[in-house]
Amino acid sequence: MKGRHIILGITGGIAAYKSVSLLRLLIKAGAEVQVVITPAGKQFITPVTLSALSGRPVISEFFTANTGEWHSHVDLGLWADAMVIAPATASTIAKMANGVADNMLVTTYLSAKCPVFVAPAMDLDMMAHPSTQANIERLRSYGNHIIEPASGELASHLVGKGRMEEPENIFKVLQDHFAHGLDLAGKHVMITAGPTYEKIDPVRFIGNYSSGKMGYALAEEAAERGAKVTLVSGPVNLTASNPNIQVVKVESARQMLEACLETFPHSDIAVMCAAVADYAPESVADVKIKREHQDAPVIRLVKNPDIAAALGAQKRLGQILAGFALETHDEEKHAKEKITKKNLDMIVLNSLRDPGAGFQTDTNKITIIDADGSEIAFPLKTKREAAADIIDHILSL
Ligand code: PMT
Repeated sequence: MKGRHIILGITGGIAAYKSVSLLRLLIKAGAEVQVVITPAGKQFITPVTLSALSGRPVISEFFTANTGEWHSHVDLGLWADAMVIAPATASTIAKMANGVADNMLVTTYLSAKCPVFVAPAMDLDMMAHPSTQANIERLRSYGNHIIEPASGELASHLVGKGRMEEPENIFKVLQDHFAHGLDLAGKHVMITAGPTYEKIDPVRFIGNYSSGKMGYALAEEAAERGAKVTLVSGPVNLTASNPNIQVVKVESARQMLEACLETFPHSDIAVMCAAVADYAPESVADVKIKREHQDAPVIRLVKNPDIAAALGAQKRLGQILAGFALETHDEEKHAKEKITKKNLDMIVLNSLRDPGAGFQTDTNKITIIDADGSEIAFPLKTKREAAADIIDHILSL
């Protein structure tokens, strides 16, 4: 963050008071911040406070009235390493989405060459209105980063989604952005996530406890770093929020294999995070197996294809194939065997013996093992942080 040039755009909403905290955090972290405020924004927060904290005059109009000095939105747009608009009202979002350049903030936005972060703040019904949603989607499609508002009590005293994200979290988004940059820009990353379901009959299946959280965290992390992501997902209750993630939904291991074989040839990196069922029923009953009709049925299982091994067999020079190993005992030994068997470049080991690791938790404790046997063990972290460590490691390869 130190020495980074940041434009902080402030518009006319109650949440403008929180921009002061965001400004303080940015300044404390060593950033140079130029505040650009809309005329309505000045109704909510005084430019004197903002200029005192930023150490720069606040810009609001195209000209300074008494000197006639012209503020070049073009120069400002080129100067910035990032622009963050917080709070962004429905009106400013609409202007940005439609190129309505009637104030200094929107003209600066239109001239900016840097990544732009938008933190909407408004009443819940305004936020939910189809026109606001369409404008936000349009901003996303232009490559802007939307920092989703939180749910909670709003200025209207109604409760719902529309509250500007807390300054600390907006700061963290910017911090992460500068820490990693867009180091996966131009790369295609394939990630598998979740469990597979292997049908027994129309109402039953063999599955496992995977929630998809680890795989979805990897997908979000890769997309935020600029990658185009194909997320091959088994049945989970999660959605991917980044528009750079294309989700391919599958149910069984065979369907997952098909999707992976189609995607892998165009991928630079593949991370096999799904908990694929190793066995499937040999045959699937057409109708529900009835309790009354027979003694306890015997379900004969057959081996499922090993998807990671199939990709390992066709891996080209320059492609990176990373696997996961979920173990319960002799962890390292088993993980290392999987690297060889599946022709992986690295494996992420997580053990069910570690509290907070593995299925369904929001945290994971991982050890990354490379094909040459070298290992790095990480402490317990959130799955999103673990995802960042995995991507950093892949980039180091
Ligand atoms: O989804 P969560 O609830 O967040 O939980 C995350 C997780 C525990 C599922 C994840 O961190 C994890 O460990 N995923 C891999 C689980 C697994 O199936 O491990 P494995 O050791 O059985 O498989 C080894 C590797 O081969 C994995 O990369 C797996 O995707 C792959 N595999 C396995 C079997 C198979 N038939 N085909 C495969 O490609």
